[in-house]
Amino acid sequence: MNIVLIGSGNAATVLGKKSIAAGHEVLQVAGRNEEACADIASKLNCTFTINWNFIDPLADIYIVAISDTALSAVHEQLNLDRHLVVHTAGAVSKEVLKTVSKNYGVLYPLQTLRKENAVLPEIPFLIDANTADSISLIKDFAETLSTHVQVADDERRKKIHLAAVLVNNFTNHLYALAEKFCEAEHLDFKLLLPLITETSERIKTNSPSEVQTGPAVRGDEATIDMHLQLLKKYPQLIKLYEMFTDSIQSK
Ligand SMILES: NC(=O)c1ccc[n+]([C@@H]2O[C@H](COP(=O)([O-])OP(=O)(O)OC[C@H]3O[C@@H](n4cnc5c(N)ncnc54)[C@H](OP(=O)(O)O)[C@@H]3O)[C@@H](O)[C@H]2O)c1
Repeated sequence: MNIVLIGSGNAATVLGKKSIAAGHEVLQVAGRNEEACADIASKLNCTFTINWNFIDPLADIYIVAISDTALSAVHEQLNLDRHLVVHTAGAVSKEVLKTVSKNYGVLYPLQTLRKENAVLPEIPFLIDANTADSISLIKDFAETLSTHVQVADDERRKKIHLAAVLVNNFTNHLYALAEKFCEAEHLDFKLLLPLITETSERIKTNSPSEVQTGPAVRGDEATIDMHLQLLKKYPQLIKLYEMFTDSIQSK
């Protein structure tokens, strides 16, 4: 398929590279930041424009990968008539594109994407559209990029996005807090990396609740009390430690 990418950030870059790797052609990148557009266009070997009146009319699919907050106003600058247009957001309704084109939908990459990714990650896609024909087109396209493609309406997509925030953003925040704690206590955070890897490997074949370990699930109150003593200087960590301990014990 011939693709136009709208946006020049992380999602546009990775989806562009992934599309090219699957044998598609990126015709053009349209954005608002000339330097970022030139950079991604050189990586994807395509043209770019910062004037959205000059968006290439010959693409099969237009992928709008701009910030969630900018999507609600995108119809003010983008009119694609009947061309198939999708956005890439987990938490935004597909209806945000209904005045951009008669054929609109969503291509949500359920993955954390960074421009700098040296290796293209495996990406499950949740897709949706306003007509059965568009769903079929987007599904065919997504299946060239991934072996995990599911149709999900706005409600289901928003819920899986929420679950993604729990497993990814919140977990990473815990890593960040643990790293700060290690720095403050002159400990090597990197010693924890094999543990992080082992747990994420284990849940590929087990339910996370079945492989829960640690003092909370064992009911080891002596260790819990000792940890809370050690956290005396860290009120934010005490709050989280108590909250997670309660949550694990009331499962
Ligand atoms: N990255 C991920 O891990 C990921 C995963 C799944 C889904 N998504 C979704 O993909 C979409 C893009 O996210 P991203 O991570 O690629 O964000 P990003 O790296 O921050 O890039 C955002 C892009 O949106 C452009 N933009 C912001 N406001 C705009 C406006 N008012 N008009 C036109 N362009 C505007 C930015 O242009 P400037 O450079 O000029 O600011 C930039 O090109 C979002 O809907 C996000 O939810 C991202």
